[in-house]
Amino acid sequence: MDTSAPTVGTDTGTDTEAELIATLPPTFDWGVATSAYQIEGAVTEDGRGPSIWDTYCRLPGAVDGGDTGDVACDHYHRMPEDVALMRQLGVNAYRFSVAWPRVQPGGRGPANPAGLAFYDRLVDELLANGIDPWLTLYHWDLPQELEDAGGWPVRDTAHRFADYAMLVFDALRDRVRHWTTLNEPWCSAMLGYHEGRQAPGRQDFPASIAAVHHLLLGHGLATQRMRAAADGPAEFAITLNMSQLTPATDSEADRAATRRADGLGVRIYLDPLVRGHYPADVVEDLALAGVRIPVRDGDLDVIATPIDLLGVNYYFSSRCSGVDDQGRSTGPDGRPVHRDVRLGRPVTAMDWEIVPDGLTDLLIRLSHDYPGLPLVITENGAAFRDEPDETGFVRDGDRVAYLAAHLAAVARARLAGADVRGYFAWSLLDNFEWSYGYDKRFGLVRVDYDTQRRVPKQSALWYRDTINRVRQGA
Ligand code: NOJ
Repeated sequence: MDTSAPTVGTDTGTDTEAELIATLPPTFDWGVATSAYQIEGAVTEDGRGPSIWDTYCRLPGAVDGGDTGDVACDHYHRMPEDVALMRQLGVNAYRFSVAWPRVQPGGRGPANPAGLAFYDRLVDELLANGIDPWLTLYHWDLPQELEDAGGWPVRDTAHRFADYAMLVFDALRDRVRHWTTLNEPWCSAMLGYHEGRQAPGRQDFPASIAAVHHLLLGHGLATQRMRAAADGPAEFAITLNMSQLTPATDSEADRAATRRADGLGVRIYLDPLVRGHYPADVVEDLALAGVRIPVRDGDLDVIATPIDLLGVNYYFSSRCSGVDDQGRSTGPDGRPVHRDVRLGRPVTAMDWEIVPDGLTDLLIRLSHDYPGLPLVITENGAAFRDEPDETGFVRDGDRVAYLAAHLAAVARARLAGADVRGYFAWSLLDNFEWSYGYDKRFGLVRVDYDTQRRVPKQSALWYRDTINRVRQGA
């Protein structure tokens, strides 16, 4: 790790960062990202059925401020205006997700034409504006009926997902080239079924491990079927959230805690996806906890269906300790202790430490451990406490500094040999930040939720200028 790397730049980015960013190639994809439930609103329109997030938001205390995605950024009605904003930014790619409950309100059966029609219009609008659609099939909004039938811990959900994927693929494959199956399955499985901090809010560790397997199986089944049906250029990917984990000290306990966290955070996904098997140490740790991954014959071959790209969502890194503040290495539940230890860096409004050098290290590590798999940063960005002036303009120098430092970190990784092909800023708009509601703002564009007025922030202008400079080789 290069410890001379700046941890955070200035509100225009530092000169060193600008020089590094200038090394990104002309073929580099520049994008912004969003997801359906976080921006669309219109949750009962055109036949959309309820998702687990509609239900979860109504649980008392589940979401800060009692916020819901009912209206969100009203993107469903303002889509052309939002595509025009993207065009102003000069991005050549837009990563969005399709809401499964719009396409299949109950998660099974034929497509709902009115629901699909929205994405049809979106794709056409993007292409008419010279923006390449990067479509994600699942960004956490499972149809509620499938959760009622057991959700991701149940094997059938993987098959339902593959059927749904094919409905979308058949409708849009003539115009969409970039297909991502799942966004951050770790969050779906661990936050949704183990920690209960996201929909559906369950707390059942064995169920969360079954969910991991069925999410991966759903990814593999869908990828296999889409690949077989593709009759033009198509690229298939999955997006994982990852951070660079390092032991807090050199002690055996801290190194073991790091290995375990990396096992359940990174390798339990990437090893089956790329190498066709679950990591032996993870399987052993799970067995000690009395948990078995519900693998059946043939599953691992399906999961290892080749992908063309790996999407990397990166926000922070952490150091791991295997002892609690009393020095104990086993918790009251008999399980090994895991404690995140701060690196002592500045934090964002999410209280996430700003660690751009962790992104460089992560990308290099992925290239070494999983060679031959091109990488794309499918999300990176930050929430800060934005203060609009009287015109609604936000001078978000802190966000500019964050983006500059992370883009420079990507460039450093490329210079060290990592095959990183593009970068999507999270997010185009301020939006519904899941359990944190609307209070946490990640947008390059401010949204006034009372009027739905959009105002590009300083970071949006900086991003536009940066993209331009790199494209022109200046
Ligand atoms: C990752 C998720 O994919 C996205 O939905 C979320 O808003 C961002 N991280 C920020 O937390």
